[in-house]
Amino acid sequence: MDNNGFLRLKWARDHMPVSAKIRERFLREKPFKGIKISMALHVEAKTGIFALLLSEGGADVRLASCNPLSSDDSVVESLKNDYNYKVYAKKGETQEEYYSNIEKTVEVPPDIIIDDGGDLTNLVSERHELVKNIIGGNEETTTGVVRLKAMEKAGALKFPMFDVNDAQMKHFFDNRYGSGQSALDGFMNATNILLAGKHVIVAGYGYVGKGVAMRLKGMGSNVTVTEVDPVKAIEAVMDGFNVDTMNNAIRYSDIIFTATGMKNVVSYDDMLVAKKSIILGNVGHFNNEIDFDGLSKRSINKTQVRNMVTEYKLENGNTINLISDGRLLNLAAGQGHPVEIMDLSFALQALTAEYIVKNKGKLEKKVYPVPEEIDIDVAKIELEALNIKIDNYTEDQLKYLNSYTEGT
Ligand code: ADE
Repeated sequence: MDNNGFLRLKWARDHMPVSAKIRERFLREKPFKGIKISMALHVEAKTGIFALLLSEGGADVRLASCNPLSSDDSVVESLKNDYNYKVYAKKGETQEEYYSNIEKTVEVPPDIIIDDGGDLTNLVSERHELVKNIIGGNEETTTGVVRLKAMEKAGALKFPMFDVNDAQMKHFFDNRYGSGQSALDGFMNATNILLAGKHVIVAGYGYVGKGVAMRLKGMGSNVTVTEVDPVKAIEAVMDGFNVDTMNNAIRYSDIIFTATGMKNVVSYDDMLVAKKSIILGNVGHFNNEIDFDGLSKRSINKTQVRNMVTEYKLENGNTINLISDGRLLNLAAGQGHPVEIMDLSFALQALTAEYIVKNKGKLEKKVYPVPEEIDIDVAKIELEALNIKIDNYTEDQLKYLNSYTEGT
């Protein structure tokens, strides 16, 4: 077997300076000694380095994927063979394999869970014998946080969970610059199609949509944003984008990226009126943003036209192309977010997990924000890694900040 996975892990490790700094301390202090951590994350090189970081901090870690199509098999093999790691994942899992692999991460009841999208959280929540052992957990992504907040509202949240997605050092960078780059990486890898001059829809103008739209503009695409939020729609207009409804924009667009966290954003009826041979890709967590079910049931023919692209013929004769079955193309067809971006996100994850251990027994069954000091800590370590100095307020300025009488 080649050593691709080992080298990918090494490349990631060599470009994750924030994790490296945290590793120095974790190796000394072993904050996770005696702690079992179960994780459902996209199993690729950066995630591997994160999992190893937790083990280096003393944790007993079990890792599965949070998406049936996003694992990097070479990394899985290297984690198993070179690092003797408990990892249960492969690219192209069936639905059954996917859930059974997540299940394997909780064969020994974990103290902490780290989730991306909410499937592990749901599984643990349904089992009293697992719930009673949990100190707390982290959630990585927007979709998972939406599910957590719904659980909290319904009184169904059974243990403390931290919303890592909304930490500043996460969504400002991972959602925007990470998705902006990896969505284009996945698209280009899947299609080899030119973006310059194309009419491209970005569905959703949250941080992910903003990042994708910004990078498409840089590539010379004519970007149309679709939104349901009037404020975000105006933001898109003022950022210089065309704004339209999906059912209209799909008639004149060549490509769509969905980034909403909502189901059926591109409905089968939209596809019927789409520009011929439009290419559809999804950047959101679940594969329901593009109506894959409708497409599977109502299309009359399908042909795999490239490794990651399927062409569907619709009942009215129209054709559309779908990338990676509507699964998030950043990972299913690309390499995931850039290394330096995941370094920040996983640094937040690591420090928040450490916070959970330190606060064992003091946390409630709530969705907590990442403590501000962790956000600031990660930002400071990153600045240090980039060798960038910033100013500090003087004593006099601090006094001014707290005074309400001093004017000029
Ligand atoms: N690599 C590992 N986790 C990822 C995520 N949530 N998004 C993109 N790339 C990733």
